[in-house]
Amino acid sequence: MASRFSTLGRYPNTRLRRNRREDWSRRLVAETRLSVDDLIWPVFVQEGHNQRTPVESMPGVDRLTIDLFVEAAMAARDLGIPALAIFPETDPKAKTPDAREAYNPDNLVCRAIHAVKKTVTGVGVVCDVALDPFNSDGHDGIVRDGYVQNDESVDALIKQAIVQAEAGADVQAPSDMMDGRIGAIRKALDAKGFEHTQIMSYAAKYASAFYNPFRDAIGSSGALKGDKKTYQMDPANSDEALREVGFDIEEGADMVMVKPGLPYLDIVRRVKDTFGVPTYAYQVSGEYAMLKGAADRGWLDWNKVLLETLSGFKRAGCDGILTYGAVDAARLLKSK
Ligand code: PBG
Repeated sequence: MASRFSTLGRYPNTRLRRNRREDWSRRLVAETRLSVDDLIWPVFVQEGHNQRTPVESMPGVDRLTIDLFVEAAMAARDLGIPALAIFPETDPKAKTPDAREAYNPDNLVCRAIHAVKKTVTGVGVVCDVALDPFNSDGHDGIVRDGYVQNDESVDALIKQAIVQAEAGADVQAPSDMMDGRIGAIRKALDAKGFEHTQIMSYAAKYASAFYNPFRDAIGSSGALKGDKKTYQMDPANSDEALREVGFDIEEGADMVMVKPGLPYLDIVRRVKDTFGVPTYAYQVSGEYAMLKGAADRGWLDWNKVLLETLSGFKRAGCDGILTYGAVDAARLLKSK
């Protein structure tokens, strides 16, 4: 069978450059459009008051104390950013092998959720469910006999999701890649009356080298022993991502995520085409560092590469993107 494009015209009757000649025409034929409604802004929080600490490997990104975080959340809301994702830098003294700080209702992340929900309306608050910020081993689950235990970790994750929901988090985002955690968390939330709490599952999360700056930001790099290959996915795999996403949807995920972003846009496309559910990708810390680091040296134009990469996510099928460039992108989209 001939290609479906074979009858669609030939040069010189057809000149594809005609539609590209003027700005108004390029706008008219644009297939995808990036909007502020597509953005989720990940923010790092730290202890203290009226303080910000630059994250060295993420130029332009600061950890914020809760008071400054609340102000930043208000500014993001005013720009029209629909949601924020909070990540805590936990005091190393509070980290234990059982990561019990994760379900301390008075931990830093719960206090940050509570403060922002109390003061700022009209913006969604997303929270990771994973043990790595609280675990002295730096892993997303509990390590026993040199292995990240699945079911024992899920029990801790359930408790974490509950305290975060009680603090007011709108969306629980399990990023741990344990098997069966979405169903277990859904069931536990429902049993506690949190049937409206959404779940955005980090469904296809790869064991990636692009997370290093994030681990610096939350202070887990030093703690992490070994790698995360026994629970995060092998970058070689694509069919397996569909199984992961399918399981999470069946277990009750409202939204699914692929992570990292740019090197995995083929996965986004397959997920969107296969399941047609709300699909997100995370432009992770290493992707940010790569672009921003080069831009700071004058090698790339930050505003342009930011919007170009985010458009790439949309084109691949994303309904939204978690990006450290959310505030910059929102400002740029507003001034367009
Ligand atoms: C932890 C978590 C990670 C990220 C989000 N949640 C790191 C990891 O799995 O090691 C990465 C985000 C980024 O790199 O920006 N569960």
